[in-house]
Amino acid sequence: MIDKISTLGGYIHEYQKSVENPQAFWSRIAESFFWRKKWDKILDWNFTEPKINWFLDGKLNITENIFERHLFTRGDQPAIIWEPNEPNDENRVLSYNELFLEVKKFANVMLKLGVGKGDRVAIYMPMVPELAIAMLACARIGAIHSIVFAGFSANSLADRINDAEAKLVITSDGAYRGSKIIPIKDIVDEALENCSSVEKVVMVQRTNTEVAFHDSRDMWWHEAMVNADEDNKAELMDAEDTLFILYTSGSTDKPKGIVHTCGGYMVYSAYTFKNVFQYSDGDVYFCSADIGWITGHSYIVYGPLLNGATTVMFEGIPTYPDAGRYWDIVNKYGIAQFYTAPTAIRSLISMGQKYVENKDLSSLKVLGTVGEPINEEAWHWYHDHVGKNRCPIVDTWWQTETGGISISPIAGIIPTKPGFATLPQPGIQPIIVDGDGNELSGKSVEGNLCIKYPWPGMLRTIWGDHERFKKTYFSTFENLYFSGDGVKRDEDGYYRILGRVDDVINVSGHRMGTAEVENAINEHPLVNESAVVGFPHDIKGQGIYAFVVCGDLSTGGEEGIKTSIRKGVTKIIGPIAKPDKIQLVRALPKTRSGKIMRRILRKIAQGDYSNFGDISTLLDTSVVEEIIKGALEGV
Ligand code: WT7
Repeated sequence: MIDKISTLGGYIHEYQKSVENPQAFWSRIAESFFWRKKWDKILDWNFTEPKINWFLDGKLNITENIFERHLFTRGDQPAIIWEPNEPNDENRVLSYNELFLEVKKFANVMLKLGVGKGDRVAIYMPMVPELAIAMLACARIGAIHSIVFAGFSANSLADRINDAEAKLVITSDGAYRGSKIIPIKDIVDEALENCSSVEKVVMVQRTNTEVAFHDSRDMWWHEAMVNADEDNKAELMDAEDTLFILYTSGSTDKPKGIVHTCGGYMVYSAYTFKNVFQYSDGDVYFCSADIGWITGHSYIVYGPLLNGATTVMFEGIPTYPDAGRYWDIVNKYGIAQFYTAPTAIRSLISMGQKYVENKDLSSLKVLGTVGEPINEEAWHWYHDHVGKNRCPIVDTWWQTETGGISISPIAGIIPTKPGFATLPQPGIQPIIVDGDGNELSGKSVEGNLCIKYPWPGMLRTIWGDHERFKKTYFSTFENLYFSGDGVKRDEDGYYRILGRVDDVINVSGHRMGTAEVENAINEHPLVNESAVVGFPHDIKGQGIYAFVVCGDLSTGGEEGIKTSIRKGVTKIIGPIAKPDKIQLVRALPKTRSGKIMRRILRKIAQGDYSNFGDISTLLDTSVVEEIIKGALEGV
């Protein structure tokens, strides 16, 4: 088992060791896992090719570290507690023994379908236990899971399936989301019209929604499981074999398939879970994220289960049946650690105090946030009304790419400060550089957040595009991993994340590439051109503001066009990409060389109509004046 850091002095000591001799440090942590064959060499790397290999020639299976390693002591302990959408419906509690049995059976179902090591499996599912079972069954047989958040459109799903050339899709008939039922299988059917790699679809029955059934392709999960063999020997995996792919938006082009590998991801997700949340045996832990995002991968499934923890998986939404749902769950299961996003906190604040006031939250020990900077008001509300002034808040900075929490307090050990992710986790060596890549050392500095040394949980490549991997993360600044975030280090040496410095918008803790949204808007037949920027949004953190140049406005009028643009974006990407504001403009502000001056548009979107800086390269200043006038008239 991983030893927890238990004092501030202990953290400082561990951190120093992790920097002075990273290889010895990680070797010690990795020793606590079960390897079928130990590694020959801890690390082989350079950030120029780039090449990152951890635990070279080590052999393992991550599911043996979840199950076989824990069964003797924890077989009957709950592994997953599943809370359904309807509070009065029966929940499901799967012990380590029970979860293991389901995983082995579904692993055998997949093997029988001809899915094996290295094959890609796309998972498009609501938050039901079968989602966790499916991902662990993939890991068991060495198939690579690619989970796609079930809020994405058929078109986005198809892109991801095609990029990974998935052979199998696992899905459900429908999904409950509050009072709504989402026709999940219909979306899959639509996507699969354009996916030739997919041979089979396995479907969980959840909502009893009527679905089209393609006899030669589709099968029901429960039917396939009836006669499934209960024994399964885990596939032997190399430490650097791919465990999963998870797509995330970038500033340009289509989403990138972030690749994580078996050994390093296992060590890093487990280590950070235990330390950051200070998990102790017997605690019940609840992360409210969706498994379709990295937070769910690392901190609902892998991190907790690798530590033999009890993890809660919630199917529904925070406001159904009312805005007290999270607090009812905390009370029902006696949650000790609760992990959520600032946007959820802000939306609950906006619903009023009464939903949290009379709830018994005395089981809580640690609160966490992730996904975006947390504003002080939300921090204090969380601290005072949820944590009742006694629970430390861990504001955890990390990314799909980092695999696990990278800069964050260790609960109760590193003193917190509202709005600050505080200090790096052991093994993470942050460096702040200016625009030219010069290090800004010392305290009270602000610049680009980079990391100068590899850590086991970091991404290894972009699926099918190593060149893009190099270009995106290692080419902006030489020999450094560039996060895309701006950061400030204050007089105490604490880190405060300032937000993205690239063309990525953080909407409710989810990354949206502006180029992706623009491409979707430009598909509209009446749109000539568009530019998308973020603007401060009370609940979402950042909202999407689109400046759109249309041709003929006569059909449907302005409102009609805006509505159909929103519909189009929802169809092409999904509801999360829907612009909050659309301003129709005659032209976009461009330089003489034809480049859109986004800096100006960002200012206007923020409601700042001055301080545009140097505008001497602007082709036509009257365009800016017109846009300001339009913005002032209301969008
Ligand atoms: C981006 C990564 C990693 C889980 C969820 C998001 C922003 C993340 C924080 C935080 C300020 C944060 C960054 C980062 N971000 N956590 N605690 N404070 N910003 O994963 O979709 O890969 O997005 O989220 O901008 O680059 P993701």
